[in-house]
Amino acid sequence: MLIKTQADGFLHPVSSDITPQGIYTGRRDMVRLMASGVAGAALAGWAGRQALAQTGPKLAGAKSAVPGAVTMEKVTDYKDASTYNNFYEFGTDKADPAKNAGTLKTTPWTVEVEGLVKKPAKYTLEDLLKLSPMEERVYRLRCVEGWSMVIPWVGYSLSALIKLVEPTSSAKFIEFVTLADPKTMPFVGSRVLSWPYVEGLRMDEAMHPLALLTFGMYGEVLPNQSGAPVRLVVPWKYGFKSGKSIVKIRFTDKQPATAWNKAAANEYGFYSNVNPDVDHPRWSQATERRIGEDGLFAKKRKTLVFNGYEAQVGQLYAGMDLKKNF
Ligand code: MTE
Repeated sequence: MLIKTQADGFLHPVSSDITPQGIYTGRRDMVRLMASGVAGAALAGWAGRQALAQTGPKLAGAKSAVPGAVTMEKVTDYKDASTYNNFYEFGTDKADPAKNAGTLKTTPWTVEVEGLVKKPAKYTLEDLLKLSPMEERVYRLRCVEGWSMVIPWVGYSLSALIKLVEPTSSAKFIEFVTLADPKTMPFVGSRVLSWPYVEGLRMDEAMHPLALLTFGMYGEVLPNQSGAPVRLVVPWKYGFKSGKSIVKIRFTDKQPATAWNKAAANEYGFYSNVNPDVDHPRWSQATERRIGEDGLFAKKRKTLVFNGYEAQVGQLYAGMDLKKNF
């Protein structure tokens, strides 16, 4: 995300926090969790690799049958997808999350579901991994900054979890709260955003089968920098709507105050549907640069309405003025 003023007061990563040992420990914890069999069928193919292997623990997903869930476009290289990231808790440079997120401790992990639901609950990561069969979804992800990727995610529709907790009739929105741990996240405390990073969806958006509760990518568990151990991917919205490292899911009757909307309401609206006809106040959204195709003479691609998912999600916004509700 581009920010207007690089606010001073950033906390810089402490070098002792970002040693390979941190990465090693995170991997080893995940390996133990996966190897203990808790994830059941979701972990078909788990091979008990060396913790320091370049590739992470496997997390397989069956090819999704959800309409629109698999694009045939060329998949972005894993290396690009795992080293060009936005995860401001670990720094604002695209390379920072891959460098710094080794400190993130992903086990044990719980996600608290609260608010306007009949069955509030605290789910462990193990519970969540077993909750519904894992699917592979090959989605385009379009960042509001003007670049995009194509990523094979692994997860299941968020609606599976929502149905289980039985929202009450007054629940109209869901707020997603992500981890803000100053001990392991060196930029929490910087003034660039208010922490924790919060995102939100309207209930019908969250119930749409394409909204993915995501645990893996490229057939492996999510690397820390991509939002381990659990994040959201909402493919028809700008990437910032897809909160990483979620710890709380709160059902509410009010539109949540989201991190980017609080930071700059005129630039980042609540809906943030990908829309080539609604420019960001400081740049056009008509085209995008596909990561991996960005040589000097690479042509920009035309950005698609709802990121190309209009046939699936367009009806959610029937009758709405998408210029006002950007
Ligand atoms: N989630 C948290 N917790 N913190 C963040 O800074 N950045 C968002 C989103 N989720 C962000 C976040 C932005 S701006 C984008 S574009 C996507 O994550 C990037 O996801 P990727 O790095 O997996 O491509």
